[in-house]
Amino acid sequence: MKTDFKDRVEKAYESISSLVTRKPRIGMILGSGLGGYISEFKGEEIGFSSIEGFPKTTVEGHKGIYKLGDGVVVQAGRFHFYEGYSMDDVILPVFLLRKMGIEILIITNASGGINEAFRAGEFILIKDHINLMGTNPLIGVNFPEYGPRFPDMTEAYSKRLRENVKSAVGNELKEGVYAGLTGPSYETPAEIRMLKAIGADMVGMSTVPEVIAANYLGIEVLGISCVTNMAAGILEKPLSHEEVIETTKRVEKEFAKLIERITEVVKKI
Ligand code: HPA
Repeated sequence: MKTDFKDRVEKAYESISSLVTRKPRIGMILGSGLGGYISEFKGEEIGFSSIEGFPKTTVEGHKGIYKLGDGVVVQAGRFHFYEGYSMDDVILPVFLLRKMGIEILIITNASGGINEAFRAGEFILIKDHINLMGTNPLIGVNFPEYGPRFPDMTEAYSKRLRENVKSAVGNELKEGVYAGLTGPSYETPAEIRMLKAIGADMVGMSTVPEVIAANYLGIEVLGISCVTNMAAGILEKPLSHEEVIETTKRVEKEFAKLIERITEVVKKI
């Protein structure tokens, strides 16, 4: 984190604090192609553009809004490292969510399936991650009032939340380890073989920095990944962003149902 990061967080929060009338306990970040859920979610809207110091969003299909509902705040749109944003930019929304009052973060993403038991269109609970982004968002100045210099990552994805969700939603919900790479190129088949060998079940280009930030801030995390395609070399066909979008569109309704169910479970915890 850079020296001015604490200031950025505070300014960002101050610019919208009057709109945060009811403190949400749960925050949700919607991943690539999964942002459509926000239109179903009832709440007061805050656009990224009205938040001081928030970078401009670039990727299509990432709306860049918050909606504040009953105990829950949903974020559609995020800042990816591959877009050229700094790690400070990438984790700023997590700090803002913390400032809003969240204690639990439900984070979602699109990923490539490495585990051959997975299928495109399937939702997987993230049980752990492997940071392969070549950096860490907490490098730099530490702000002890926010978190420790050396945060524990033993249970980066809360076991308690996973167990509760599995028993309520159905124990058939699979779990997997998510490998986070910078992108934006997809992986080579050799890289996917390596990821498999080191214990990854799915691969993507987000989530890892935000989850590190959330753990630093003492936020409990629940991660859900939508496998949008099988990873490179698993099937004999090239990967495309179109396929990712197509899959998320196909499972949009199922995703909304799952996320609503999960929110209800988490609200009761
Ligand atoms: N690789 C990396 N990121 C992804 C993929 C993939 O196969 N699918 C969706 N996001």
